[in-house]
Amino acid sequence: MPELHVIDHPLITHKMTLMRKKQTCTGQFRALVQEVSMLLAYEVTRDFPLSPLPIETPLEKMTAYVLDGKKTVFVSILRAGNGILDGMLRILPSARVGHIGIYRDPKTLVAVEYYFKMPPNMESRNVIIVDPMLATGHSAIAAVDRLNETRPRSTKFVCLVASKDGVASFHENHPDVPIYTAAVDDELNEKGYIVPGLGDAGDRLYGTR
Ligand code: URA
Repeated sequence: MPELHVIDHPLITHKMTLMRKKQTCTGQFRALVQEVSMLLAYEVTRDFPLSPLPIETPLEKMTAYVLDGKKTVFVSILRAGNGILDGMLRILPSARVGHIGIYRDPKTLVAVEYYFKMPPNMESRNVIIVDPMLATGHSAIAAVDRLNETRPRSTKFVCLVASKDGVASFHENHPDVPIYTAAVDDELNEKGYIVPGLGDAGDRLYGTR
């Protein structure tokens, strides 16, 4: 059964509302994306294994537990994925990072790859793909197709807003990849934008419009 996790904690829902508002300026929008991403990181890493580590507190020795951050690779779908990446790296600073450059052909809405760089030994790493908008699903599907060539140990997908169609089409192609999102919106418009959505996430993050 494909997994869809809608993380609708009140803090996330509140920050999503501020993010969606068209009056929210670039600086605030960027800060909100980081904050929501930090909160999503908490959920997406919930099942990550811990390893025992003998340490000494000021009072005595104990066996404590740690994550192996280096085993996690955040894969940012350029460029808007970098907004989520910045927040997630604040929670897991030792994670590795990969980048995939994919743009949507404006006429066909089909995903075209122009950049791909991953850390070595992906077979031993858990991948978390990040992209704020799961709209038609074309870029996300293409990203997982391409990443699967590197045989990662596991893959999850994180976004801020997903469309119902995007979720369905992503899971038709990749039923084994769980989706974590802060919201699911009903519709896509004729340009492939999520409505109501939050607009163009890249433009809003970087002030390019
Ligand atoms: N990309 C965006 O930035 N926004 C959308 O609504 C869809 C794709």
